[in-house]
Amino acid sequence: MRQRRDLSIWRWFEFFPVRDRTAIVSLGEGTTPLIPAKRLGAKLGIANLYLKNDTVLPTGSLKDRSNSVGISVGKELGFDTASVISTGNAAASVAAYAAAAGMRAIVMVPKGTALSKIIQSRAYGATVIVVDGRFDYEVADLYRSAVKELGWYDCLSSNPYRVGKKSYAYELVDQFDGGVPDWVIHPTAGGTGIFCMWQGFREFLSLGWINRLPKLVAAQSEAAAPFVLAVEKASAEIEPVVARETIAESIQVGNPVALGWRALAALRESKGTAVALSDGEILAAQSLTASLADIFAEPAAATSVAAAKKLRETGMIKTDDVVVCNLTGHGLKQPEAVHGSEEEFAPIVPTLAALREQIRSASDLAGK
Ligand SMILES: Cc1ncc(COP(=O)(O)O)c(C=O)c1O
Repeated sequence: MRQRRDLSIWRWFEFFPVRDRTAIVSLGEGTTPLIPAKRLGAKLGIANLYLKNDTVLPTGSLKDRSNSVGISVGKELGFDTASVISTGNAAASVAAYAAAAGMRAIVMVPKGTALSKIIQSRAYGATVIVVDGRFDYEVADLYRSAVKELGWYDCLSSNPYRVGKKSYAYELVDQFDGGVPDWVIHPTAGGTGIFCMWQGFREFLSLGWINRLPKLVAAQSEAAAPFVLAVEKASAEIEPVVARETIAESIQVGNPVALGWRALAALRESKGTAVALSDGEILAAQSLTASLADIFAEPAAATSVAAAKKLRETGMIKTDDVVVCNLTGHGLKQPEAVHGSEEEFAPIVPTLAALREQIRSASDLAGK
């Protein structure tokens, strides 16, 4: 039996740099839900708030958009080993897509990366190498020498074929029935999402399929916010910063080396901005997104919601603006970010009296 319509990003085959359809490596990525978040929007004072739920992508993060395209090209070019360094999500995604392509995956992560992400990469069959060093420095240096020496297919953002995140733009226009939101807010590390979305929207504009462009916002942790610094200084260059520890570990990148200045140009051309969020603001946004929009996103992903809140508070986002927050990774990627006390989860004896007591104290805690 034939499927009638391809709902993956490959609906947009002609916009991607793959020549031969038989080279496509797809796990069904794309057309993720665009959810009108009424309750969350009411809380933030944004009447038209939408969440683009990329937590449902095959490996649980936005990286599947880029790797489906990137690995397809790698396969077409005849590589047998794909590699990446990663704060976790790219590792799992490269691991899965390389396996699907019949390639070996070698992924490097810095010491301290969430075990759940490492385990996921291993489960897909990747060779996972944990390096005692900082992501932007020692890990990156080792990785670059290894790629040169060993001839791996490099799946970092410097790979020009990893343009799958253009599909955000295509899908949003489709999901808004040819319309364009006023704002798209994207959790930002290397800048691939911002750069690719801008390209995607501009392609549709030049084809006459849309008649305006959205403002793009880079949401960053204040512990790793080179885009925010550059926007504040109105600089055309990105100055690398030394990233500090943050709960938003997936976007703990201080040196967006390959695409930084291009993504910055996209932010400027779109008349958008960049917003820095504290860990407290990020965790609060994660919790609001789960309780008021029923999506459990990882902290890095929730920076988009935290940024929407902040931009609404400063008045930059108006109450009737159409705002899309990209939720780029699943909460189960980093479950330890949501603390529960041992006491709260201590087992009860199996009696109704103990159950009543537990429910009463849980209600007291929640103030209900
Ligand atoms: C959950 C999550 N969100 C967002 C990003 C941002 O990546 P980029 O700025 O390259 O689009 C990443 C990757 O680093 C990520 O893992």
